[in-house]
Amino acid sequence: MNNRPIGFFDSGLGGLTCIAPLMRALPNERIIYFGDTARTPYGSKSPETIKNFAREIAAFLIQQDVKMIVIACNTVTATCLRDLQQRFPQIPIMGVIQPAANKICAICDETNSIGIIGTKVTIKSKSYEALIHQKNPQLSLHSAACPAFVPLIEEGIIENEIMDLTIRHYMDHFIRYYKIDTLVLGCTHYPLIENNIRRIYPQLRIVNPSEEVVYRIQQVLEKENLLAQERIGDHTFYASDLSENFVNMINRIFELTEFRIAFKNFDLTAK
Ligand code: DGL
Repeated sequence: MNNRPIGFFDSGLGGLTCIAPLMRALPNERIIYFGDTARTPYGSKSPETIKNFAREIAAFLIQQDVKMIVIACNTVTATCLRDLQQRFPQIPIMGVIQPAANKICAICDETNSIGIIGTKVTIKSKSYEALIHQKNPQLSLHSAACPAFVPLIEEGIIENEIMDLTIRHYMDHFIRYYKIDTLVLGCTHYPLIENNIRRIYPQLRIVNPSEEVVYRIQQVLEKENLLAQERIGDHTFYASDLSENFVNMINRIFELTEFRIAFKNFDLTAK
């Protein structure tokens, strides 16, 4: 048993989509979240830059005495999961792509045409293809990068015609051409536009991996005997630029929870 917090991070708001189900499934766990809002988006940056950002954030979370780190970002997971695990061996560090791959393999077979959408870096890395085909080489996979989604979501442009047009711009041809029937949200920001995608393409089966990520977190905590017995203190959300938008979006996502939340600004570049 261990009542220390779990550290989560993402380039911005996206990782929050894994936290809402975690709070429901494991209410004793306390969360420290870091959103790198000053440097978002990561998805079109070079792997070297992303690696440097991720190392800084992981070091910061370890200073906050977290018992485990969840890389709540596909782009960082695809770029440097192993690097972070090697650099910080003292605590478990997990990413979001393996749980997503497990889910896809559990619900799909070779009759499906599976579409994976994500950032440029995630799609270029072919991490989804590698992990899924390791388990089931028969699955038919197609992928598309949608680089404008994250900046629009960070701006709060969601229930909006601009977002709908952007979704159509990236996905109309992709879905038609490959006859996609199952769509994987391969970026933790994308569950925030899941309703738009569902409305525009009602025939699609949409895979939001966040529940699977929570299931994996629970497995790791159980295996390492790290589950919390009781929750001591508030969840804390750090941002490298604590903008009004970040606070509003968090309040919107957690509107219906009874949890108390503290917000803090932390400039990683100020040494
Ligand atoms: N939420 C991140 C992901 O899952 C978005 C990365 C970005 O900032 O572009 O990939």
